[in-house]
Amino acid sequence: MANITWKMEDGSEISADVKDGLNLMEAATANNVPHIEGECGGCLSCATCHVFVAPEWLAKTGEVDDIEDTMLEMTDVEREDNSRLSCQIIASAELDGLVLQVPEPE
Ligand code: FES
Repeated sequence: MANITWKMEDGSEISADVKDGLNLMEAATANNVPHIEGECGGCLSCATCHVFVAPEWLAKTGEVDDIEDTMLEMTDVEREDNSRLSCQIIASAELDGLVLQVPEPE
């Protein structure tokens, strides 16, 4: 179990306890986090699950593989060094307290 917080640009936050093994796109859509659509269901073909990972958490969320790296070029909001596709981040106790910033398209 991991408590995950999604922060919106207006300063509002949504926090949820997420079961181990669930990816963080699924967790976001289950908790009605705005702007995370997950259109492809998590198969790395839509880039609608883009988040910015708080820098202190980057190492724990794992490496970006080549396919995710390619898909990160297709996000609505331009990628940053701490961009991830949240369907590729899997909840575990290690991520308890993780904070994600949700990009909001103009
Ligand atoms: S849900 Fe489509 S790439 Fe993550």
